[in-house]
Amino acid sequence: MLFTASILLSLFTSFASASVLPKRQSPPIWESPFSGAINTPTANQVIPFGAEFAFDYAISDWCEPGYAPFNVYLTVGADAPVFDNVTASGTLVEGAYAFDFGEFVVARFGLPQQGVPPPPSLVMPTVDELITTVIPDSKFYLAVVEAFEGCPGHLAVEYSLTSVPLSVAA
Ligand SMILES: *[C@@H]1O[C@H](CO)[C@@H](O)[C@H](O)[C@H]1NC(C)=O
Repeated sequence: MLFTASILLSLFTSFASASVLPKRQSPPIWESPFSGAINTPTANQVIPFGAEFAFDYAISDWCEPGYAPFNVYLTVGADAPVFDNVTASGTLVEGAYAFDFGEFVVARFGLPQQGVPPPPSLVMPTVDELITTVIPDSKFYLAVVEAFEGCPGHLAVEYSLTSVPLSVAA
């Protein structure tokens, strides 16, 4: 009797927690409670199309990862990209970005570099290089999706999304 009750209770609690997390299923895409920070460029910085600009993203090390991989994008639209636009592989979904600057990896604890280390600067694409249409008065955002592996809670991988608005001019 007690046994049945505890099974029912645990069934109930797993239903209860399943209804809270995650928002999207198959596969679930987990949002990290912490995000890194885009130090440069700064909000509303003016960057001409085709110009080189300083880039500095401070990873979040809350999971103490050996490697911190992140993807950098330029997005265009009325609003900043949202976590709903992050895919199960830690990219922005096609259509949600105008340019892909690539994936960079920070190696920590003196581990050998894997992938491409973050460069100190990036080059803004030209209008012709954008893969989405830029209508007049479009807003631009530099967006970073960071991946976190081996975080507490036994989730395989979590992602964070952060962005800064930019003033991209002709
Ligand atoms: C990004 O997410 C928003 C909010 O869910 C959605 O309205 C929009 O269509 C998404 N963009 C793409 C390209 O999927």
